[in-house]
Amino acid sequence: MNILAIIASPRGMKGNTGRLLEEVLVGVKETGAETEILSLSSVKVQPCVGCDHCHKTGICIIKDDYEGIKAKLLASDGFILASPNYIFSVTAQMKAFFDRCNGLIHCMALEGKYAAVVETSGGGEDADVISYMERVVNTLGATSVGGIGSPMAGIRTFPEEANLYGKARALGCELCHCIREKRQFPEQDQFLDAFRSMDIRPGRIHEGVLGVRA
Ligand SMILES: Cc1cc2nc3c(=O)[nH]c(=O)nc-3n(C[C@H](O)[C@H](O)[C@H](O)COP(=O)(O)O)c2cc1C
Repeated sequence: MNILAIIASPRGMKGNTGRLLEEVLVGVKETGAETEILSLSSVKVQPCVGCDHCHKTGICIIKDDYEGIKAKLLASDGFILASPNYIFSVTAQMKAFFDRCNGLIHCMALEGKYAAVVETSGGGEDADVISYMERVVNTLGATSVGGIGSPMAGIRTFPEEANLYGKARALGCELCHCIREKRQFPEQDQFLDAFRSMDIRPGRIHEGVLGVRA
């Protein structure tokens, strides 16, 4: 089993979000799964230009690292989205990545995959950013097994750290158990069914979305 962790802090794994993500990945590895960390600050993912090409062909016209990340996501068994809270939301790096995923979202191309989300903040409002990322997970077609977030206490430190890290490791384990058991989350299925029935969905996955160029 392989789990792809996408971190969107400009500090990469050296910041607070990276510290919390490390603990989630300890839990993932405890189950025997392989992990890969992809830091959006080390790759180039430009903002969406709204050309609609991905809706027609499944391929983004912008030539940067996005298609490679998409291929890794499609090849993964599960994934983790990690971002600091930047002005009540995710970082610009993560938002640019989400917007570029519009072709995947259009087809709910990550259906059957599971994900967890990780967030840190300066002073709280963690829940809003966690739910936003979980909603993106669902619109991609995937199921969220949950999220973890915390205000920081200093550089790479948190209040009640031992407790937080225990929960983070448990979330990593849970992600892999859900994948193995194909765990059902009925309340998310309702959202997925409603999204699936929307007109924007072409009804099939473009070959291009799956990385096959015509
Ligand atoms: C541009 C910017 C905006 C931020 N906005 C918020 C915010 O709205 N609410 C909050 O609680 N913390 C905010 N923070 C603090 C970060 O969320 C916090 O320091 C986080 O742990 C940084 O994670 P990192 O070290 O992984 O980059 C902001 C920090 C920056 C640099």
